[in-house]
Amino acid sequence: METIVKVINHLKSSKEEKESFRQAGEIIKDGGLVAFPTETVYGLGGDALNPESSRKIYAAKGRPSDNPLIIHIADWTSIKKICVDIPETAKRLADAFWPGPLTMILKKSSAVPYETTGGLDTAAVRMPDHPAALSFIKAAGGYIAAPSANLSGRPSPTTAAHVMEDMDGRIDMILDGGDVGIGLESTIVDLTENVPVILRPGYVTQEMLSRVIGRVDTDITLMSRDTGRVPKAPGMKYRHYAPKGSMLLIEGDREAVIRTMNAEVKNAKRRGERTGVMITDEIWDQVSADVKKSLGNRDNEYEIARRLYRILREFDEEEVTAIFGECFSSDGFGQAVMNRLLKAAGYAVEKV
Ligand code: TXA
Ligand code: MG
Repeated sequence: METIVKVINHLKSSKEEKESFRQAGEIIKDGGLVAFPTETVYGLGGDALNPESSRKIYAAKGRPSDNPLIIHIADWTSIKKICVDIPETAKRLADAFWPGPLTMILKKSSAVPYETTGGLDTAAVRMPDHPAALSFIKAAGGYIAAPSANLSGRPSPTTAAHVMEDMDGRIDMILDGGDVGIGLESTIVDLTENVPVILRPGYVTQEMLSRVIGRVDTDITLMSRDTGRVPKAPGMKYRHYAPKGSMLLIEGDREAVIRTMNAEVKNAKRRGERTGVMITDEIWDQVSADVKKSLGNRDNEYEIARRLYRILREFDEEEVTAIFGECFSSDGFGQAVMNRLLKAAGYAVEKV
């Protein structure tokens, strides 16, 4: 299959762009697959109400089919067709955060095939905050099932070029809307429990949710592997977001981190590894390795998030086999950053 790429600048809705959305919509209605930009990461979209489309998504990603897909909608009323028993908290969260990087788990209606929900009676729903995503969803009939547009196990794509790397020849079209804004996947909150639970941390933090709906808990499996429990979001149990090389995070005081990182790099080189470090500007001059990547300023966790997946892909391209990185505070949005770093590292942390 040839994968068509259409550039969307979404500055003005030009005739050409309208035509691209129309074509993308037709592909979806015919059961095909289209990758599209969102504010978090690129999605790999198919018709959420067509079981055959969901099967194709799993095949294109090489993803286990028990891992449910998020249904993307473009307006609040669409939710009524795909969900039942919608609690009043869902509306309040939608008013506060949609369109935006928040996914809600609700009871699914019979309109949603089990192929889309990985056999679950619940559905994940989100309204992305990206003009191209919203135009595409509308053109496609309103219900787009989409996981991140990476091959299973690879870091999520934050540019159309990343999507091309993983999906060329596997899907019908890519809508290229440039770089994404956030760079980490949406927050997932489960509203089917008595107390809402965060199943995946993201840009919308626990504190932001609590301000709108009161108490919100966090799935205890998110920040540690040793809880003896299985994560509630089926996707969170897989080794996700991972580079090909091994990865170790080093946590501690700045001077100790610098010392340990340099020592680890030296040891790894002695073992014949090609070494890489992923570090902030604050320690840039004091650490050396075969490949160095800057996460930006330590205080700017938004910039760190935006760069993270791109850097993990670059380590793969540059055939780095041993990666070392810093740890960050898990407060606020830092929880999402640390969650993805820990997953990428397989929870390998050296405390110094
Ligand atoms: O930001 C995002 O959410 C991106 C963009 C494309 O919207 N999408 C995304 O999709 O990250 P994906 O498939 O890579 O991650 C979806 C996560 C998985 O961990 C999955 O297990 C969980 O959502 N999930 C989906 N439906 C669920 C459900 N009914 N119950 C619990 N977890 C669910
Ligand atoms: Mg994903």
